This record gives sequence, structure tokens and C-alpha cells, in this order.
Amino acid sequence: KFKDPNWRPKVLVTHNDVPETGLKLLREKCEVTVVETGERSELLQKVKGMDGIFWGSHQKLDAEALDMAGPQLKSISTMSVGIDYVDLEEVKRRKIPLGYTPNVLNDAVADIGVGLAIAASRRFHEGRQKIESSEWERRQQWLLGQEIRDSTVGIVGFGAIGETIAKRLTGFNVGQFLYCGHRPKPAAEKYNAKFVPFMDLVAQSDFIFIICPLTNETRKMFNAEVFSKMKTTSVLINVARGDIVDQEALYDALKNNKIFSAGLDVMSPEPLPADHPLLTLPNCFIIPHLGSATIRTRNDMSSLAAMNVLCGLADEPMNAAAY
Ligand code: DGY
Repeated sequence: KFKDPNWRPKVLVTHNDVPETGLKLLREKCEVTVVETGERSELLQKVKGMDGIFWGSHQKLDAEALDMAGPQLKSISTMSVGIDYVDLEEVKRRKIPLGYTPNVLNDAVADIGVGLAIAASRRFHEGRQKIESSEWERRQQWLLGQEIRDSTVGIVGFGAIGETIAKRLTGFNVGQFLYCGHRPKPAAEKYNAKFVPFMDLVAQSDFIFIICPLTNETRKMFNAEVFSKMKTTSVLINVARGDIVDQEALYDALKNNKIFSAGLDVMSPEPLPADHPLLTLPNCFIIPHLGSATIRTRNDMSSLAAMNVLCGLADEPMNAAAY
């Protein structure tokens, strides 16, 4: 409820492809304007005088956009759990409540992580290529892969999605879970997951899942030195952000079989150019950032983001506040 019941705040939705669930909630109480082209120039022009913003794209939310909006702006929500494209300091400095969409996507992203682990360890991409090039060989030791059974699984970032991945993999009879991060997580105890330094995790794991936020600390955390410490049989899964991995070093590690394979939902840049070298590698299984891309999850993200914006406009705590 807004303090003035007659107030119809102006809300900008920064992308025209936002699911209707959230838009419907906003339209009931606000004047909604949509950035039809998704272009920055249109966004900057339309943001002027807005009271709230549903930040439905991954473009930079920075001082420029906040300045263009003006001082009346009182509520923003992203439609993502990762907010690396937000200049958080600028938002905080202006004391504008910022929402985001954690938890509702845990299952969808964990599913993609497990899917990538199987696809990369069992050589799906290479297998498909062999069929297409008429190189299907009918013999016993052809296209052999790695098993999750009895493996050591390292989770880089044991947050809600990391835990959901562990929960799913428990059914695969994993040997041991390792994880790293800033501090031990009580949730990890349920999986007997051991808190270890990053370099120990890297050296001991058969499967490594990257599911931590992209920050200055994690940027290019997986570099040539790290790849040289990994097992040659190891499989790397990235469902977080592409920039956590030094992609040239990853290419080198995959090309020269320093690691077994990789399964990537995220990369740098996105979209990845069609002629990118990573796409030439048989042991790299790549999908185009589909982690949260299910109908149900995207609808839930849209509703949560809209509720965040409405709460901020009503001077109430957001359902999911980013700070
Ligand atoms: C997120 O929410 O951060 C996912 O990457 C999907 O955008």
C-alpha cells in the first residue's frame, strides 16, 4: 500500500521481453513504461522522472542511468540473482532500495549444472560431432567418459544454488563433497561437505562447479596456474559468470588435455561470437546462459522483481533486498 492511495507511480521496465506475471502486478498499481528496443539510448531517455525501475536486462545499472532517472527514483529491482552489472556503491550512496531475485531459480540453475556435468563428462558434444561426420565407431573403448559415482565434487560457492547442486548429486553416490568460500556454511554439514582452501579444492576435485558471484576477488579466479593444478581427468562446470574463468587459459587447458572437459552455461562475452575458438573444442559443451530459463522460473523471477519494486515504492522492506 502506498502512503498516498491515489498515487500511481511511474515504473520503467527496461526490456520488452519480461514475463507478464510481473508486468501484471505492476500495471495494477503503477503507470508502466517499457523499453521496447532494449537499447541503452531508449532506456536512458525513458528513465527520466521514473519512481521505480524493473531492471529486466543485464545492461549496466550505473551512475549514468541513475542520474538520468533523477532524485525522485525510490525503488529498483533486477530480474536476476547475479548483480555484477550493478554499480552497487552508486545505488547505496543514493540510498535507493535494490531488489534482486534469489532462491526462485535455485532448482532451475542446479538442474542445468548437473546437466552440464553429465554432458561434459560423458562427451555429448564430441559424440554428436562424430555422428555428424560419419565417424561413429563400434568398439568397446570409444568415447569413454568420467563418472560422478565415487568422485570428489568441489563446489566453489556453497550458497543456495551450490547447496541445491549438492542435494541433487547426493543421488549420484558422490564420494566426497568439498567447498570453498569466505567461511564454512552450516548447510554444508548435511552433505558432509568439507570446507577447504580454494587451491586444495582445485587439486583434489574430479568435478568442479563454479557457482559463486562475480566480484573483483573471483574475476579470472580460474587461470592458467589453477588449470595446471587440476587433475587431467577433471571436469569444470560454470553456471555463474563467464569472467570468473580466464577463457584463454581454459581454451589452452582443454585443447592440450590439461583437464578432461568443461560444461559452460556462461562465458565472456555473451553472446559468444559464432567463430569463438571455444566452440571448436570437442571437449567443451556450451549452452547460451540458460540457467534460469524455464517458464516457471522466469515467471517467478518476474513476479518477485515486480513485488520488490512495489515494496520499495511503498516504503516497505523488499521481499528480496540486495543490500
Ligand atoms: C542470474 O539470475 O543471475 C542468472 O544468471 C540468470 O540471469
